[in-house]
Amino acid sequence: MREDIVRAAQFFSADAAVVCLTGAGVSAESGVPTFRDAQTGLWSQFDAEELATPQGFARDPGLVWRWYMWRLEQLEAAVPNTGHAALARLAGLCESFLLVTQNVDDLHEQAGSVDVLHLHGSLFSFRCASCAAPHNLTAEQRGADLPPACGVCSELVRPGVVWFGESLPWDAVEEAATAAHRCSVMLVVGTSGLVYPASQLPLIARQAGATVIDVNPEPGPISSIADIFLQGKSGEVLPALVRAVADRRASA
Ligand code: APR
Repeated sequence: MREDIVRAAQFFSADAAVVCLTGAGVSAESGVPTFRDAQTGLWSQFDAEELATPQGFARDPGLVWRWYMWRLEQLEAAVPNTGHAALARLAGLCESFLLVTQNVDDLHEQAGSVDVLHLHGSLFSFRCASCAAPHNLTAEQRGADLPPACGVCSELVRPGVVWFGESLPWDAVEEAATAAHRCSVMLVVGTSGLVYPASQLPLIARQAGATVIDVNPEPGPISSIADIFLQGKSGEVLPALVRAVADRRASA
C-alpha cells in the first residue's frame, strides 16, 4: 500500500468531519469528458463562452441546446466508477461526510452518495429561462434542434446548470462554506481548482485548520496548498484510501 495513502488514512478517524469537493475528474473514468483536459476536454472542441453562458444561449439557443442534449446523452450512458463507489463507502466510515460537487451528472447519487450538494446545478433538471418554471423534458424535446417552449409562459426552456457569469445556488454555497469552516478533513478529488467559488473551499478549510488532501493525476493549484497530494486517478486512489481506512479501524 502506498505510504502516502496510509498516511492520509489516519485523518479519516471515526469522528472525522469530512467535506469532499469533487470535479469532473471523478467522472473521467466513467467516460464523461472533463472540461479542460487538453486533448479530450469538452472545452478543447468548443468555446465555453459560446456555449455555457446566458449570452451564448440568447445568441444561438439551438446550438447551446444541442450541445447540452449531446452531453446529457453522454451522461446517461455513463455509470459510476470505483471512485464514486469509494466515496459513498468512505462516507459510512466517518462521523460526518458532506459531498460537494461541481459536476452536473448524477453519478455520485447512482453510486449511493446521499445529500450531494450540486454547486453548478444538474443536467437532469430543466427550467424556463424566463419564469424559471420547472420543465419535464419529453423524449421528443430531447431530440429537437431547438429548446422547447415553457408550458407556463411560452419562453425558452434551458438546462438547470449554472452558466459562466451566473450566480450559484446560494443555499448550496452557504452550506458548503459553513461545512468547510468546520471540517477536520477537506478531501478534494478531480478538480483543476480554477473556478470560483468552489476553488475557495479548500482554502477556507485550510485556514480553519483542516487537513487538505488532493486526489488528482496532475499537480495544480489545489495540490500546491494541500497537506497531502495523492497523485493518481481517483478510480484507483480512492478505493485504496478506503481500504487503508478500513484496515486502520480493524487493527484499532
Ligand atoms: N481522476 C482524478 N482526477 C482526474 C482524472 C481522474 N481519472 N482525470 C482528470 N482528472 C483531473 C484533471 O487533472 C483536472 O485537474 O480532473 C480535473 C478536471 O478539471 P476541469 O476539466 O477543469 O473540471 P472541473 O475542475 O470540474 O471544472 C470546474 O468549470 O467549466 C466549469 O462548470 C464547469 O464544473 C466545471 C468547473
